[in-house]
Amino acid sequence: MSGSAYQDDRGNKDRSIANPDGQGSAVPEHKGGTRPAPGGPYLIGDSMTGGYGKGPDILHDCTISVEKGEIAVIVGPNGAGKSTAMKAVFGMLDLRGGAVRLDGEDISDLSPQDRVIKGMGFVPQTHNIFTSMSVEENLEMGAFIRRDDFRDTMAQVYDLFPILKEKRRQPAGELSGGQRQQVAVGRALMTQPKVLMLDEPTAGVSPIVMDELFDRIIEVARTGLPILMVEQNARQALEIADKGYVLVQGANAHTGTGKELLADEQVRRSFLGG
Ligand SMILES: Nc1ncnc2c1ncn2[C@@H]1O[C@H](COP(=O)(O)OP(=O)(O)O)[C@@H](O)[C@H]1O
Ligand SMILES: [Mg+2]
Repeated sequence: MSGSAYQDDRGNKDRSIANPDGQGSAVPEHKGGTRPAPGGPYLIGDSMTGGYGKGPDILHDCTISVEKGEIAVIVGPNGAGKSTAMKAVFGMLDLRGGAVRLDGEDISDLSPQDRVIKGMGFVPQTHNIFTSMSVEENLEMGAFIRRDDFRDTMAQVYDLFPILKEKRRQPAGELSGGQRQQVAVGRALMTQPKVLMLDEPTAGVSPIVMDELFDRIIEVARTGLPILMVEQNARQALEIADKGYVLVQGANAHTGTGKELLADEQVRRSFLGG
């Protein structure tokens, strides 16, 4: 994998996919007139506490964030609350404590759809494509909030994932696992998001396909699009991460740069197999 070779090579100004203005103009910005303090994380779920419906809290004072130009990675055991934390940041959970801020603005009360309009792209862990629709229809669905011509963005997605262009007329459900994940990521890119959230984008794919997907994710990050992602392939993911979080039982157990976590004795023993 090209991996850590990219660690110090972000900030490429080619923003062909990552439109820095995103679709944010569809919603008036900063209604309260309070401009955020500069320098905070671009997207943060800050001290989040909450669970599903009236059930027990799954997240306990959990914080995850991503800065501009970064890949931030969340790892941790099964059931640790990684997906729950992502859903909370995307607005699919009622938080009992904490806040979600995008570019300094408190968006805790916005619906997921309004967060998409604000510039968030989210690829959930499961059910992230429409299997009976063609690849191209999936991408068109991704552009649902756009009123403008999105053919250029579709061409960019096909440049990033050439196999999708080849298979554009095929039902997405007929594609391989890795190709379906490409559809899911491509669909999220169709809104020209300002930040991309991926929940286990390499789940269930072979090591070779995983490496390819990671390379594509790095390529997207290098266009200037910050990426917050959950990964079960902890070691490989931390190798490409600017920042990493280890979550355990809904709480932050370890936080650091990808390199720091990979070198941390306790993290290695408990989560990376020694
Ligand atoms: N829709 C749901 N309703 C109720 N509990 C859920 C739901 N989804 C997940 N949980 C519970 O939340 C906890 C964390 O799950 P999850 O966030 O999926 O973990 P991870 O993604 O780290 O594997 C688990 O105990 C799980 O059973
Ligand atoms: Mg999960």
